Amino acid sequence: MAKESENLSINFLRGVPSEEALSHLIPMAAEGYEKAINRYGTEVLQYGHFLGFKPLRELIADDHHVDPERVIVGNGGLEMISLFFKSLPRESNIIVEEASYDRVLLDARRYGHHLIGVKLTPEGIDLVQFQKIVDKAAAKVFYGIPFHQNPTGINYTVDNRKAVERICRKKDILCLWDVCYQDLRYDGKTNVPIEISEWGPILTSSFTKTISPGTKCGYTIVPSHYVEHLSGIIANTRINPNLPTQAFIADFIQSGRYDDYLKYLRELYKPRMDALNRALNAMLPGAFPAAITGGFFTSLTLGGISVDDDAAFIASAKESGVGIATAWDAVAPDLRQGMRKKGLFLRLTFPAYASENIEWGISKLKDTVELFS
Ligand SMILES: Cc1ncc(COP(=O)(O)O)c(C=O)c1O
Repeated sequence: MAKESENLSINFLRGVPSEEALSHLIPMAAEGYEKAINRYGTEVLQYGHFLGFKPLRELIADDHHVDPERVIVGNGGLEMISLFFKSLPRESNIIVEEASYDRVLLDARRYGHHLIGVKLTPEGIDLVQFQKIVDKAAAKVFYGIPFHQNPTGINYTVDNRKAVERICRKKDILCLWDVCYQDLRYDGKTNVPIEISEWGPILTSSFTKTISPGTKCGYTIVPSHYVEHLSGIIANTRINPNLPTQAFIADFIQSGRYDDYLKYLRELYKPRMDALNRALNAMLPGAFPAAITGGFFTSLTLGGISVDDDAAFIASAKESGVGIATAWDAVAPDLRQGMRKKGLFLRLTFPAYASENIEWGISKLKDTVELFS
């Protein structure tokens, strides 16, 4: 714990990679972009490769053991999800986890889709409730974040994930897994990859947290029969994606530097995750859904605090040096009222901060909780 705690502050709000990591990346990115432009020249400066830079599509396909034709690489994970939502019939029913990536929920609603929330457990989603929902509503899609879930940090068990896929397949629901945190596991274990067959599941991922948000690159893998339909939507939305970035990433992967960088990130973020787990266990036990094993987030449900005290709680935390916000936008709209009854719902991020700031921040948060309880 810090000695001069009055000089500390922390912003638990924005899930950004650490500045240290990005600085470590600078020489590799500088060299990589230069190499990409020199090697591919006008091929990456001109229109082209509508579905993504071919060598990168091939590398991703190889990693997931699928035909490269099924891989579409674009400008970030969110863009790929958005294009997929755009490709659905308007007013589709989409099942989402009770708390999910807020921007995905907002985007789906902008296309007129209806969201149906399903409860989360420390093992994944509540399968009994999921079955009831799919028996009742004609759902088109299930969207879930199975690895180090945003915002709860929950890591689905393999059994839970496979059960979700089985139910989706039986009911002809497109199962869309967002796996952007799969490689960011810091507890020394490796996440079991998702197997893709011809029916699906559909996968989407991003290099935002594993390389850099500024490079803005993500991809999706869809069934072969869906490629043409989705390609039409893409070609009418933005023609080609950012090709120099994709050429850089292809080379980064091929050279083995991407794997080295992932290893570096895991080592950098592990002590920070450990500090957060330690502090939460000691100071806010029972307020978070599961021990964090990777990713960028965990959530807190502060039972003793009324939602009417939202603004005052946030202001008080800020005054003591802790930036925090409620995470209601991340909650499925149909479950929001029920969640509000349980108390304040917050999302915390940790990879960008030193362990001592994290522990200090949680202790300040605990003080604020005591003030309002
Ligand atoms: C679950 C999830 N999906 C997608 C994204 C967005 O990725 P991108 O920046 O590549 O659009 C994020 C970003 O934080 C995320 O948490």
